[in-house]
Amino acid sequence: MQQMWTDIDDYINSHLIPSDPKLQHALDNTDTQGLSNHLAVAPNQGMFLQMLIQMNQCKRVLELGTFAAYSTIWLAQALPADGYLLTVEGRDSHAAIAQENIDYADMPTQIELKKGRGADIMNQLIAESSEAFDLIFIDADKQSYPEYLELSLKLSHSGTIIVLDNVIRSGAILDENNKKPSIEGIRETFAALKNHPQLLSCTALQTVGSKGHDGFAIAIVK
Ligand code: DHB
Ligand code: MG
Repeated sequence: MQQMWTDIDDYINSHLIPSDPKLQHALDNTDTQGLSNHLAVAPNQGMFLQMLIQMNQCKRVLELGTFAAYSTIWLAQALPADGYLLTVEGRDSHAAIAQENIDYADMPTQIELKKGRGADIMNQLIAESSEAFDLIFIDADKQSYPEYLELSLKLSHSGTIIVLDNVIRSGAILDENNKKPSIEGIRETFAALKNHPQLLSCTALQTVGSKGHDGFAIAIVK
């Protein structure tokens, strides 16, 4: 089935996703530097993130897990010139390529890349009484998702949208023998999302496509 899913993603992208030199540069540069793009969102998923920002007229966005900044550029593209995007990356090698790709993209919105552990940076923001974010995209180490979710709520206002990437992992979440920290982290995240008192609504959708079988969860803060 993977070939069919990839072919259909190609079909969707060729019809609906205009080619964009800064996004293409981010993918090509990442490749050239010897990093696989499998951690990046697919183009049609990047467009979906962009549309969430447009629908909700978000101005302040937080991303956890920059990788090479492909999703970052999608998110920033939807923001107005006085918008602000903070993206956090824990790995120095990823952050270096991400900064190159962000610099090349040269976008009007301010994009700040901070290096460090997502939770440390979020705790710092909370300590500084940072203004809340309108959308938070959680896409860093899956084992820390439960912690990222709770910290995200402290950096949210009523109506903030929280999107969590990769919550299905080809169905690995259902395999009770799979005790990988990343998979346990996702299961704990579902448990935390279930009837969460601070959420207005929440769902998760499975996706298939060029990135295989995965999915995302989306929540609105009460
Ligand atoms: C992985 C992480 C991601 O965020 C993603 O979108 C795809 C794969 C991974 O860790 O394998
Ligand atoms: Mg991801």
